[in-house]
Amino acid sequence: AADMGQDLQQVLITEEEINQRLDEMAAQIDADYAGRDLLLVGVLKGAVYVMADLSRRLHRSVPMDWMAVSSYGSGTKSSGVVRILKDLDADVTGRHVLVVEDIIDSGLTLSWLLGNLSSRGAASVEIATLLRKPEAAKVEVDVKYVGFDIPTEFVVGYGLDYAERYRNLPFIGTLRPEVYGG
Ligand code: PRP
Ligand code: MN
Ligand code: MG
Repeated sequence: AADMGQDLQQVLITEEEINQRLDEMAAQIDADYAGRDLLLVGVLKGAVYVMADLSRRLHRSVPMDWMAVSSYGSGTKSSGVVRILKDLDADVTGRHVLVVEDIIDSGLTLSWLLGNLSSRGAASVEIATLLRKPEAAKVEVDVKYVGFDIPTEFVVGYGLDYAERYRNLPFIGTLRPEVYGG
């Protein structure tokens, strides 16, 4: 529907809860990376909102770069096939990389990305994700900063899409089943 509100089933995490958690995550990142330069790597397109809101909470000037990889296609299931759609502009050799994600679902995207960035000679690679679905993990990924662990349910908003829509909802929510019916 043209009005996103009509397609919603439930709000899982409010805008206020997201903001509060991002404050805490940014403070932790500032402390952990004190005295070290940092490169933020956002994973397009879902991480756009987390990147914008998390980076603005850091008390340092920080370079940002972006990669686009694909694992979901246009549906709601991870395929396990990771393709690079846009590579980094930056050389990560010897740099401390913090990958910024909206969600870790099966973990396949991040596990592949960690291997990829490490093989390029990054000094360290850590992950900051707003959401994680622990029960959906197909591979274990070591994640340093997690906003919220959520149940294995399809969620949208704050960067997360269903068929490229609903990313601009300012909160995390679920969609009514009819929406998937087409
Ligand atoms: C989604 C999400 C994560 C990834 C998580 O991205 O934004 O990047 O899937 O899934 P996984 O842990 O099962 O690998 P998607 O591929 O849908 O692209 P998008 O960010 O452009 O929506
Ligand atoms: Mn993504
Ligand atoms: Mg997606």
